[in-house]
Amino acid sequence: MRKAIEMTTTPASLPTGAVLQVGPLKESLARTLAAEYGALTLPERPERDEFLDRHGAGVTVAVTSGRTGVGADLMKALPALRAVVNFGVGYDTTDVMAARGRGILVSNTPDVLTDCVADLAVGLVIDVLRGISAADRFVRRGAWDSAPFPLTRKVTGKRVGIAGLGRIGLAVARRLEGFDVEISYHNRNPRDGVSYAYASTPVELARACDILVVTASGGAHSNGLVSREVLEALGPDGYLVNVARGSVVDEAALVELLTSGGLAGAGLDVFAAEPRVPEALLSLDNVVLLPHVGSGTVETRAAMEELTLRNLDRFLKDGTLLTPVPETAR
Ligand code: DGY
Repeated sequence: MRKAIEMTTTPASLPTGAVLQVGPLKESLARTLAAEYGALTLPERPERDEFLDRHGAGVTVAVTSGRTGVGADLMKALPALRAVVNFGVGYDTTDVMAARGRGILVSNTPDVLTDCVADLAVGLVIDVLRGISAADRFVRRGAWDSAPFPLTRKVTGKRVGIAGLGRIGLAVARRLEGFDVEISYHNRNPRDGVSYAYASTPVELARACDILVVTASGGAHSNGLVSREVLEALGPDGYLVNVARGSVVDEAALVELLTSGGLAGAGLDVFAAEPRVPEALLSLDNVVLLPHVGSGTVETRAAMEELTLRNLDRFLKDGTLLTPVPETAR
């Protein structure tokens, strides 16, 4: 059995396979991990078990992304694992409780993607209310020749509810202030230092707004937070924008309400079973569908890559992480 690496290890002196890439990563990051850290990549099944029998005991750090993560089963197959370094702010695919139970550290990439995710949320708000994507399709299919584009809805002055006023939620709220909207929010507890109205439940929040923007972090704690009851409280004139995780919203209820007129529209960057998008949404002009691109700009992905590598380097240097997930993470 390979020995676990000692701390103060430099990338060049790492044994091959001490760093394991779990799931697809940004190409340049994957190249750096392989070339400079001797990382091996966890193969898909059926090769996975044999790979883990051969290499699992030597893995000290797993580098993954929110898309794949490190679940409890994989952790069990990596007895020397000491850290999970996650590319992305969301880490709901990694079993943080199991990691904590074994003293495995977990990091993510907060802050560097806040601006881009918030920009995109505002873009979705404007798009879904003003019908930008739908109007673009209208022009492209030549429909303008025969009829004017239907009237849309005004953004300025609307009431916006933020479900999850963390870093990203706050950045969305700050941007939307420029549209003279009335902002309220729901968190588990009121947040210090903000003047926005606090709603003690998601239903109360939905009742008090025209546009509900979901920015809560994903995971067991927020699963189904935006339930059917919340969506019904938002109502036939209400819009939902989700840049968080598909799991935060009851997707079946969302689809049903969007197709039956129970909701006015939705702007969605995330889905319950990505990359699958509910078939019924594909033909709806009041829904904007994006392929989970909140952080997907050249600048932000480069910053996320850099922070991922800085976390890895810090761990190799002294066994700590630069941006560990919060101690309260579940
Ligand atoms: C993340 O990093 O978790 C976000 O989903 C990026 O869009």
